[in-house]
Amino acid sequence: MVARSPAGAMDLAIREERPGDANAIRAVLEQAFGRAAEADLVDALRASGDVVTALVAIEAEKVVGHVTTSRLDAPMRAVALAPVAVRPERQGRGIGSRLIEAAIAAARAAGEQSILLLGEPAFYGRFGFRVEAARGYACAYAGPFLMALTLDPAAPMRGRIDYPAPFSALG
Ligand SMILES: CC(C)(COP(=O)(O)OP(=O)(O)OC[C@H]1O[C@@H](n2cnc3c(N)ncnc32)[C@H](O)[C@@H]1OP(=O)(O)O)[C@@H](O)C(=O)NCCC(=O)NCCS
Repeated sequence: MVARSPAGAMDLAIREERPGDANAIRAVLEQAFGRAAEADLVDALRASGDVVTALVAIEAEKVVGHVTTSRLDAPMRAVALAPVAVRPERQGRGIGSRLIEAAIAAARAAGEQSILLLGEPAFYGRFGFRVEAARGYACAYAGPFLMALTLDPAAPMRGRIDYPAPFSALG
């Protein structure tokens, strides 16, 4: 029997990605975004050595979600959280939230001072990301969707932040 939570999610495990997951991760990213660009980005970040943490969500032994954090060039120890994706037919069941929470926990445990992301404030605000916290940074993605979660209150709130090079290929 498969245990189900009240939200309808089957038993879910979050773990670090393994080399054998690569094809399944590509499929999840392509389905979630409806194009190959984000799957290509994740492959490129792996190849360039910029990945800090890459986690998969596993349901019934299948990869149903994925999240990547990568190293930012910043005045503090910081990572970018992107992309995050959940297989379309499994969305809306808390899987994306579990992946984001696990990525935040990993960054905190690793001593990162800040996490940056580009996203919908209404969604990411619930995890503590704030547009105001990112406003002081000079960044190619500066604007109403650049958000920061400051993990260390001593982290500088100004300065230049550069995303890893593979992001520049993203349209
Ligand atoms: C964004 C995504 C990862 C969320 O995963 P999920 O498993 O559906 O998320 P959860 O079930 O934990 O949370 C669902 C909640 O997020 C909201 N939400 C999901 N995507 C959202 C978006 N792009 N903008 C605003 N809100 C969003 C839902 O409305 C829902 O809100 P509720 O809890 O108030 O009902 C998933 O929808 C996805 O893969 N989307 C396509 C790819 C994408 O846009 N990724 C984000 C940019 S990197």
